[in-house]
Amino acid sequence: MPRFDVTIAGELNLDLILYGLPAEMPAERELLAEQMVLTLGSSSAIVAHNLACLGSRVGFQSRIGDDQLGQIALERLERIGVDISRVRRIPFPTQTGMTVILQRHRERNILTYPGSIAELTLADLDLEYLGDSRHLHLSSFYLQKGLRPEVGKLFRELKAAGLTISLDTNDDPDDLWQGGLQDLFAYVDVFLPNAREACKIVQTHDLERAVSRLAELIPLVVVKLGPDGAMAQRGKQRVVSPAVRVTAVDPVGAGDSFDAGFLHQFLEGADLATCLAAGNLAGALSTTAPGGTEAFRDSTHRERFFREHGAVRARTDPVFNP
Ligand SMILES: Nc1ncnc2c1ncn2[C@@H]1O[C@H](COP(=O)(O)OP(=O)(O)OP(=O)(O)O)[C@@H](O)[C@H]1O
Ligand SMILES: [Mg+2]
Repeated sequence: MPRFDVTIAGELNLDLILYGLPAEMPAERELLAEQMVLTLGSSSAIVAHNLACLGSRVGFQSRIGDDQLGQIALERLERIGVDISRVRRIPFPTQTGMTVILQRHRERNILTYPGSIAELTLADLDLEYLGDSRHLHLSSFYLQKGLRPEVGKLFRELKAAGLTISLDTNDDPDDLWQGGLQDLFAYVDVFLPNAREACKIVQTHDLERAVSRLAELIPLVVVKLGPDGAMAQRGKQRVVSPAVRVTAVDPVGAGDSFDAGFLHQFLEGADLATCLAAGNLAGALSTTAPGGTEAFRDSTHRERFFREHGAVRARTDPVFNP
């Protein structure tokens, strides 16, 4: 029996989110926000946190600065039960990163100081630790510039050790969608893009085309569709699942929370419809409080949400592509 259900090698930083900003933000003026939240950020850490919150045994490897931001981030993970014993704290000038999100009514600005994110390399990782697990998840492929050229090697070794692997690239800030991504698909069991990312990767504007192409390369492709829910394609089988209706505070970390909900059920051996419904439930829960983990951390809020919405079921539509 492996020690962990899921191990994650990835980035760890904080999000500072400001709400209630003026619609126009002229330079050189003192602009006031109505509310602020400092919370755990970064895709890998949000997936780890929310998986642990759902009951998975999670091991997390990362490289952060030996500073107060890093300390806050680590405490958040530790308190929820993520094993952080292999997170490396590196002295100054390495610094833990920070994302500042200016959340306005119709749009937001996202400003990231990556800090140590790009510094993580394969040499920081303990493959024996990561391999003592049923599953490996990797997020933020394009932000992890140091690790990126070695992800193929990481996947190959862990696949040989018997783990299943999931990948969520998230956005590519350079908008190039290269970096050997296609070569990784041979090792990936579950690919978790959003609709835009799926289209960018296949270089098409047609989501159906993107999904069928990706499904030729990867056993299970799961596409997140924001307020429209999600769909999955396994070979010729298609399952779609509607979003849970909620009043959203912000969409920060909804995709990562979806990954956590989906993977938790996937590793329980649930059918695809149940995995998708669990992903949508977790994604929706995330939107009901600031950032990607606050709604999960608040156990009263979380339990009430699951009581009210937990009965939502997925619709199973076997669709055969021509
Ligand atoms: N407004 C909403 N109402 C209900 N559910 C939502 C809403 N927005 C997102 N979700 C849920 O969260 C999931 C993931 O959201 P989304 O499609 O925005 O992912 P993403 O673009 O990968 O997000 P991220 O910015 O976190 O990477 C959706 O599939 C859906 O289940
Ligand atoms: Mg995403």
